[in-house]
Amino acid sequence: MSKAPHLVVLTGAGISAESGIQTFRAADGLWADHPIEDVATPEGWARDPQRVLSFYDARRDQVRGARPNAAHRALANLEARGFEVSIVTQNIDDLHERAGSRRVLHLHGEIMMARSSVDERMRYPLGRRNIAMGDVCDRGSQLRPDVVWFGEAVPAYQDACEIVAEADLLLVVGTSLAVMPAAALINELPFDADCVLVDPDESLRVPAGVARLVMPAGEGVPALTRHWQREGRLF
Ligand code: APR
Repeated sequence: MSKAPHLVVLTGAGISAESGIQTFRAADGLWADHPIEDVATPEGWARDPQRVLSFYDARRDQVRGARPNAAHRALANLEARGFEVSIVTQNIDDLHERAGSRRVLHLHGEIMMARSSVDERMRYPLGRRNIAMGDVCDRGSQLRPDVVWFGEAVPAYQDACEIVAEADLLLVVGTSLAVMPAAALINELPFDADCVLVDPDESLRVPAGVARLVMPAGEGVPALTRHWQREGRLF
């Protein structure tokens, strides 16, 4: 019995840009105003944890105020129509889940979760709360945002590799592919699988053999999913 073709979607900050969430590397991106070494490294956390918590409080507030856009909704809708869709996201927001996607792997963690600063397996949903100094895990260690910082291991990477290795088609949306190991996931794609990239930046360097739509996610992704739904298949 042949199984349904598997669409794997690798998303980055650009898919949430039209929901009002800042990307990282644009001229007005997050890293222009916030030194990475101060807010997104273990060393920054050791130096000034309150500064790190405040930075992520602002990110969390931005996510709480945002809503999934047409691109998130189109992917969730495709899955609801019976297509096999897995999302591997570099984003820490929960907009894929709020749009209705059920198979979402967060490579870089989740802003709506806290974790123990000494044991990454001790994780707690934050709900409407933020994290304060003095908030501790069940073993008494300070809580930190459940996000992967520069210089840290990416625990979900092996699972992500396995998902991409099962893809018949990889759709890459809104990522500059500037950060390892996420950018290397494309190399896990089977040799006979296709890859399509949606990003409005025409200067983005794209690996050989990748087809591209130079347009915002909110246009490009629904255009692709409409096409697949009309055809009733990915190919
Ligand atoms: N639709 C689609 N793509 C867009 C849109 C849009 N409306 N607006 C911007 N983009 C694209 C940009 O052209 C760029 O290629 O989104 C990409 C965003 O790139 P980055 O800011 O580098 O974000 P990302 O690739 O997700 O960063 C990867 O770096 O610091 C980290 O951990 C952080 O997960 C993040 C990782």
